This record gives sequence, C-alpha cells and structure tokens, in this order.
Amino acid sequence: MKILIAYDTSEGQTRKVAQHVADVIARSGQEGEAIDIRRPPVGFTLDGFDAIVIGASIHLGKHSRQLSRFVSHHIARLNDVPSIFFSVSLSAAGSEREQADASRYVEEFLIQSGWNPAIRATVAGGLRYREYNVLKRWMMKKIARSEGMDTDTSKNHEYTDWNAVDQFVSGFLAQLEQQERT
Ligand SMILES: Cc1cc2nc3c(=O)[nH]c(=O)nc-3n(C[C@H](O)[C@H](O)[C@H](O)COP(=O)(O)O)c2cc1C
Repeated sequence: MKILIAYDTSEGQTRKVAQHVADVIARSGQEGEAIDIRRPPVGFTLDGFDAIVIGASIHLGKHSRQLSRFVSHHIARLNDVPSIFFSVSLSAAGSEREQADASRYVEEFLIQSGWNPAIRATVAGGLRYREYNVLKRWMMKKIARSEGMDTDTSKNHEYTDWNAVDQFVSGFLAQLEQQERT
C-alpha cells in the first residue's frame, strides 16, 4: 500500500506531526510519502496512492486557503480512497469548550470542501515562539497568558499528544488492512 501524507503548516508543528505519521506508517510495513501541499513535487498527482492522510493547522479560526485549494483540486480522488484529516491547533490542547471549537473548525472545513474522510482528528499543536516575529510573539504570548498556557518566549512549547496521534494512525491502518482482506 502506498499512503500519501500531505501537510499544510505555517510554523512547522504540522510538518512534525506528519513526519511522525509517516514514521508510524513505515514501521507498519506500508510505504508512506510526506509532501508539503505548499511545495508539491513537480507534476504531483494523487494517482498511485491507495490512501491519503492530510494534516493542516488553524490560524485565526481557520484552515488555510492553500488547504482549501488543494482539497478542492483533488476532491474526486479524496472521496474515492480511504482518507484521514487531522487538524492541528491550540484549541485542541485547551478546555472542553476549546476542544469543541477545534472540532467545529474541522467540521466546518469538511462541509465547505465536500470532502468526507473516514477519520477526523484534532491534534494539540504548539507555541513556537522562536519561529514568530516580534508582533506574533507578543500576540501569542498575550493569548497564551489568557488561556493559562506557557508564556516563556525564550523557547518553543509543544502540547502534541503523540500517543493520541499513534492511535488514530493505527486505527486507520487497521481499517485499511480489513478493507484489503474483504
Ligand atoms: C498567528 C496565529 C494565530 C493562531 N490562531 C489560532 C486559532 O485561532 N485557534 C487555535 O486553536 N490555534 C491558533 N493558533 C495556534 C496554532 O494552530 C498552533 O500554533 C499550531 O501548532 C500551528 O501549527 P503549524 O506550526 O503547523 O502551522 C494560532 C497560531 C498563530 C501563530
């Protein structure tokens, strides 16, 4: 099985999660290929992939325009093969109400795009202060303080629950195996 892991990132956390997903897939004996949707290889198509994982992050309450374009361009194939969507945000690391926001971002995106992945997951992201410019660092520190998150801007902070990532990838691989058998 050849599995695509396509990711959309601004500060790098979703790339890190995508790479982890690719490693889990490789350890299971399947072939995984990770690509950055903002820099796809020349002549890239979804042909030849038996399953697709897409991961993207939230900024200002939304997934990016680049993600919308990628999904819209490939919608027929995406709805034709088994797929997962995972969405990386700080809301996913927050209170119950914030986690509900993280799920809402996913559902809104899927309704608007017409994509129907078998598995949807929200993944806690990070505060990558070292990657932000001065203004963004100031703004994110202010938000972090109001949410009770880390405010030490001298380093990056990561809230990703790697076991939870392993779990949804393993669930997906089990579904694929079952489909292959039937
Ligand atoms: C400018 C900015 C705006 C953000 N807006 C939101 C938001 O509205 N909701 C949320 O849950 N997280 C928000 N985040 C947090 C990101 O989703 C989080 O840092 C995530 O790890 C980013 O992933 P990436 O590095 O792959 O882009 C924001 C982060 C930045 C820097």
